[in-house]
Amino acid sequence: MGNIFAVTNQKGGVGKTTTTVNLAASLAESGKKVLLIDLDPQGNASTGCGVDKATIDISTYDVIMAKAKAADAIVRPEGATFDVMPTNSDLTAAEVELLDVNLREHRLRLAVESSRDKYDYILIDCPPSLSMLTINALVAAKGVVIPIQCEYYALEGLSSLLKTIERIKQRTNPALEVTGLVRTMFDARNNLANQVSRQLITHFEKKVFHSIIPRNVRLAEAPSHGIPVISYDRSSRGSIAYMALASEFMRREK
Ligand SMILES: Nc1ncnc2c1ncn2[C@@H]1O[C@H](COP(=O)(O)OP(=O)(O)OP(=O)(O)O)[C@@H](O)[C@H]1O
Ligand SMILES: [Mg+2]
Repeated sequence: MGNIFAVTNQKGGVGKTTTTVNLAASLAESGKKVLLIDLDPQGNASTGCGVDKATIDISTYDVIMAKAKAADAIVRPEGATFDVMPTNSDLTAAEVELLDVNLREHRLRLAVESSRDKYDYILIDCPPSLSMLTINALVAAKGVVIPIQCEYYALEGLSSLLKTIERIKQRTNPALEVTGLVRTMFDARNNLANQVSRQLITHFEKKVFHSIIPRNVRLAEAPSHGIPVISYDRSSRGSIAYMALASEFMRREK
């Protein structure tokens, strides 16, 4: 039965989508059966996996609003090595529509239940907010992967994310744990980045993944081709870093 992981941080542009897509591809490369759920109305993960948003028939919106079954929304983009539940801007409406439904925090968990046994890992790319969509991801998940860009404001907002995780753990999902924090877009020549990185290790110790994702132009280029970096430039530093992260992730989540 596939375990579910939310890739989340309400701060925008910290590498959530890049991490979800490339961790999914690296896990698939290691022979794992992987589903990526795009839970961000921006649909960046869908595009980054080669889904044309204009042609999406059934999306995460339909699944979360119980208008369609998860299995009917899931696609395997051409050439991809893992499955995708794609999203477009329709999902924006779910934020408001969910307010009026029963079990609104449990919609995603319930919807995905029947597809879980097909996968080893299910990764959810979350939007940059602590919204009802993110709450749905945290209620469904066993683990949380938190990408952190090591900058001045990196730690701001982290405490409200951790409080939300704790609240959901206590009230609804006792199995929920932080799997790990990933340092993204890291530039080792930058003093501040090193300083913030040390702070993270002091606060979170073993929860910080050893694997560091460097700033690497190949990681930024790959989405415009609709493919993960491993398919775009296998020997790039970005690709190697995400393979290392996947190995570490699998060791933690055995
Ligand atoms: N390690 C990296 N090296 C270079 N560029 C990167 C790296 N990681 C991410 N980027 C680029 O930085 C931008 C933001 O990354 P990404 O979309 O993954 O962040 P996000 O947290 O998902 O953003 P949002 O909050 O809008 O969903 C993108 O243009 C992406 O290509
Ligand atoms: Mg994103």
